[in-house]
Amino acid sequence: MLIGTPKELFEGERRVALTPDSARALAKLGHSAIVESGAGDAAGFNDEAYREAGVEVGSAADVWSRADVVTKVRPPKTDEVSQLHDGQLLISFFNPAGNAELMEQARGTGASVIAMEMVPRISRAQKMDALSSMANIAGYRAVIEAGNNFGRFFTGQVTAAGKVPPAKVLVIGAGVAGLAAIGTATSLGAITYAFDVRPEVAEQIESMGAQFVYLDFEETSQNSAATGGYAAPSSPEFREKQLDKFREMAPDIDIVICTALIPNREAPELWTPDMVEAMKPGSVIIDLAAERGGNCKLTVPDEKIVTDNGVTIVGYTDFPSRMAAQASTLYSNNIRHMLTDLTPEKDGTIVVNMEDDVIRGSTVAHKGEITWPPPPPKINAIAAAPKKEKPRELTVEEKRAQEVAAFRAATKSQVGLLLVGGLLMAIVGAYAPASFMQHFIVFALACFIGFQVIWGVAHSLHTPLMAVTNAISGIVIVGALLQIGSGSYLVVLLSVISVLIASINIVGGFLVTRRMLAMFQKS
Ligand code: NAI
Repeated sequence: MLIGTPKELFEGERRVALTPDSARALAKLGHSAIVESGAGDAAGFNDEAYREAGVEVGSAADVWSRADVVTKVRPPKTDEVSQLHDGQLLISFFNPAGNAELMEQARGTGASVIAMEMVPRISRAQKMDALSSMANIAGYRAVIEAGNNFGRFFTGQVTAAGKVPPAKVLVIGAGVAGLAAIGTATSLGAITYAFDVRPEVAEQIESMGAQFVYLDFEETSQNSAATGGYAAPSSPEFREKQLDKFREMAPDIDIVICTALIPNREAPELWTPDMVEAMKPGSVIIDLAAERGGNCKLTVPDEKIVTDNGVTIVGYTDFPSRMAAQASTLYSNNIRHMLTDLTPEKDGTIVVNMEDDVIRGSTVAHKGEITWPPPPPKINAIAAAPKKEKPRELTVEEKRAQEVAAFRAATKSQVGLLLVGGLLMAIVGAYAPASFMQHFIVFALACFIGFQVIWGVAHSLHTPLMAVTNAISGIVIVGALLQIGSGSYLVVLLSVISVLIASINIVGGFLVTRRMLAMFQKS
């Protein structure tokens, strides 16, 4: 099929939905691609780069009329939707909740529409989750933007010229954007605090080197799994406690990154004018929620303002577009993964399988019908932790009875094993020479002890354990090499097998250890 990508019409939009690399990957699925001339210029991908990747470069009219699948970033304008035709597929952000007319117009064309913001937040769909990939960029860029407007270092320094205290950053809302902001701020050396209404993210926040802001409040929080991985609104009492805490922190905080949002709702006001007033001059607020009214009501969407007391408030709503090369790469990857799922046979044939949770969830118009809102996904959201039934407390007698039963079962199986082992030894001993038996018994005991030792090692210690087994394999190889010159074919054969197996163990051990160490290395 022909995948077409027009230039974005939204003013100031620099991203593009297809990169030369994603076009190369699409070719492996049997698809060819066409891009409007100049579509990737602002993201750093010129027409020549597309041609080199085998992509045809044409006009907007070519793209809309010839492509079987049109891929875009921003929701299409009415002029664009009017160019859709029956059987065509549009993959783009679409904002179906706020674009009823556009959806109706798309339905009328007979084309199918996949709205990228509707990709359900389930593990299998993470690779297609464009909201997350864009929010990740926004969180990162928010900290960079804050640094650009903040007159000091993030990290603390002691220099000959004087001591510089580290910046204090507060991230409100630890979703995708918030976590990216936390990671960036801590890696720049700032003291980072973070707050979220979902208590399950506290551990994540702390593992990233930030401090979770705890409230002195008991609220039976709803697990976000029930709301598709998103937060549920909190009670007014909880909100008051939260604001009290922020009020207390405001004079001390240099940078606030606001990302708190509950989907399809106005952003909650969490950083009030009196908190802004309490901040030091030179402090910065980056309000990522600006598009939905902002977590700070002084925020002006798409603008940067400086308050009377010298606090800079940034309300840009196009952070991903400000990192267009990165954003286009990730977004086009999301689209490519979506197209991979839409091309099950990898033969260039698109199948919109409405039985598939992800495709069904994100399709808003199909075969002349509006298919939004979708039914809830059959599988739980990513954040869903399986509910564990709390076991009943056992009485002392019950516990003792359980222990005795377990001990009896273990003893029975051990006695059984010993009997079988002893019987085997006796049979071998009846026929084998005495010198063999001496070695054989040592070997059997070594196997038994080795098994017991290795079985009991915790998983986290498997890497050092592998180093020890490599040493043992080394000894095996030395032993085998000493025997390899023996006159007996059987001994030579056994020695060769020993060298082979021990070498596999050593090489494999090194490879696995290397991979495990790489997981802990900062690239
Ligand atoms: P998300 O849904 O993953 O995260 C939002 C977080 O806010 C959740 O963890 C939620 O629990 C938390 N939250 C909700 N109410 C809260 C409250 N009252 N107090 C504290 N935390 C609360 O959303 P994501 O993807 O991280 O996006 C965050 C924000 O960034 C959204 O407003 C989104 O529209 C915006 N965004 C802005 C961009 C820009 O260029 N300005 C680009 C991409 C996203």
